[in-house]
Amino acid sequence: MSLRRILTVDADMAVLKQVSEPVAVVDDDLRRLMDDMLETMYAAPGIGLAAIQIGVAKRVIVMDLAGKGQPPAPRYFVNPEILWSSEETGPWEEGCLSVPDIYDDVERPIHVRLRYLDYHGAVVEEEAEELYAVCIQHEMDHLNGVLFIDHLSRLKRERAVSKVKKAARAEA
Ligand code: NI
Repeated sequence: MSLRRILTVDADMAVLKQVSEPVAVVDDDLRRLMDDMLETMYAAPGIGLAAIQIGVAKRVIVMDLAGKGQPPAPRYFVNPEILWSSEETGPWEEGCLSVPDIYDDVERPIHVRLRYLDYHGAVVEEEAEELYAVCIQHEMDHLNGVLFIDHLSRLKRERAVSKVKKAARAEA
C-alpha cells in the first residue's frame, strides 16, 4: 500500500471537475487502488475519499464511518448508483479533503437506496441514512466532478476557493 497525494481545489480544480469512468472489472489492480485510497484517507484523516481525489478518474469510493474508539469499518464502493432518494431533505455540515478547512451546510435527501460493487466485485444493495447517506452522496458527487462547495451560493464557493488558495500560498 502507499500514500497518495490528495488533490485540492487551489491547484487541481481541472482534475477534480472530471467525470469519472465506470470500472469494467474488480480485480487485484483495482483492489490495490482501493487499498491506497483507504490508507490515504486514514492518514489525512478523513471519512470518505473518491478516486478522482488522488487523480484517478474511476468510479471508486472508500469510506469509514466508525466513530472514535470504535474498530475500523472500511467500506468500498465500485460503480455506485443511487436507486432511490427520499423527498425529505436535510442540512448537514460537510467538509472535504480537497477543500481543506472549509465546512458548510449542504441540503440533501436524508435517505437513499444504493447499489454498488464491493471490494470483491459482489453486487450490494442497501439503504443509507444520516451520515452514511450524506457521505455517499458527497462522494458520488465527486465521481461526476461536483464538489460540496458547488451546492453553496456562488459567493460562498468563491470565498472557499480563495481561502484554500491563500492557505496553500502561506504554506509554500
Ligand atoms: Ni469530498
